[in-house]
Amino acid sequence: MALYDLYGATVIITGASGGFGSELTKQLIGRFDCSVIGIGRTREKLEALADSLGGNKRNFRYYVFDVSEKENWQSFAHTLSVKSVMPDILINNAGIMPPFRKFECEGSDAAKKVMETNYMSAVYSCEALLPLIKLSRRGAVVNVASSAAFSPVAGTAVYSASKGALKNFTQALSEELDGQVFVSLVCPGFSDTELFRETYLSEKDREVMKDIGTDKAEIAKQIIEGMLLKKKLICPGKDSKLMTAISSAVPAYANTLYSKIMKSSGLNIFGDLQ
Ligand SMILES: NC(=O)c1ccc[n+]([C@@H]2O[C@H](COP(=O)([O-])OP(=O)(O)OC[C@H]3O[C@@H](n4cnc5c(N)ncnc54)[C@H](OP(=O)(O)O)[C@@H]3O)[C@@H](O)[C@H]2O)c1
Repeated sequence: MALYDLYGATVIITGASGGFGSELTKQLIGRFDCSVIGIGRTREKLEALADSLGGNKRNFRYYVFDVSEKENWQSFAHTLSVKSVMPDILINNAGIMPPFRKFECEGSDAAKKVMETNYMSAVYSCEALLPLIKLSRRGAVVNVASSAAFSPVAGTAVYSASKGALKNFTQALSEELDGQVFVSLVCPGFSDTELFRETYLSEKDREVMKDIGTDKAEIAKQIIEGMLLKKKLICPGKDSKLMTAISSAVPAYANTLYSKIMKSSGLNIFGDLQ
C-alpha cells in the first residue's frame, strides 16, 4: 500500500501550544517540511514554540482562539479563504480534562465545557473546513480522542463521554468520506503533559505514569506513523493498545477490572474513587 504523502502538506493543528500538539508541529515541520498552522489559547506558548523552531520558524504560523466557539471556526475558515490558504490536513488535538474524580463532585456545567472543547470543537472545525480540505488531493482529518473513548474508567465520566462522542463522530465520518478524505481516530494512552494541570499528582503518581505512560514526542511519532500508513484507528502508547484490546474484547468486564486495579493501586490520583 502506498504511504500517505505528508511531504510539504499544509496542516492545521489545534492545541499546538501544548503537549502532543507542539510535538506534532515540530516533527511534521522537521521531518516532512510541512507548513503548520497552529491554534491555541495562549499566545506566549505559541510564540515560544515558534522560537524553538529556529530556521524552520517560517513553516509555522499561529492563530489564538477558543476552539469551542463555532463563530471562531467560521471566521478562521473565512480568513484562510481570503488568504488563499488551502489546508490538506486538519488535526483536532486540543482538549481539556477535569480533575480525576467522581461525577458527583463535577456536575453538568463541567460536562458542558468539556463536551464543547473536546467534541463540539471537532464538529465546528469539520463543518467550517471540510469544504476546503475536500479540494486537496490528500485531504485528511485526524481527531485525537483518548483510550478513554474505549475504556471509560471511574473518575473520568465527563471526559470519557466527550471522547466517546468524538470517537463515534470520527468513525462515522470516516465511512461517509471514504475515498474523498482520509479520516483517522487517534486514541493515545497516558502521557505526562499539562493535560493533568487540574489533577494533583504525587511523586509516586508521576513515577507510575512514567512507567505505564509514553513520552509525548513518542506519542506524536506514533500518530505520524499511523497517518503515513493511513490507519483509521491509531492507538499510541502500550497502555492504550492493551486497554483498547481488552475493552473491545470484553467490554462488560473491562471497566470492573480497571476499577479493581485502580482502587488497589494506592495511588493518590485514584484517591477520590474509594
Ligand atoms: N496526555 C495524555 O495522557 C492524553 C491521553 C489521551 C488523550 N489525550 C488527548 O490528547 C490531546 C492533547 O493533550 P495533551 O496531553 O497534549 O494536553 P496539553 O498539554 O494540556 O495540551 C492541550 C492543548 O489544547 C489547547 N486547548 C485546550 N482548550 C482549548 C480551547 N478551548 N481552545 C484552544 N485550544 C485549547 C491547549 O492550549 P493552551 O495550553 O495554550 O491553553 C493546549 O495547547 C487532548 O485532546 C487530550 O484529551 C491526552
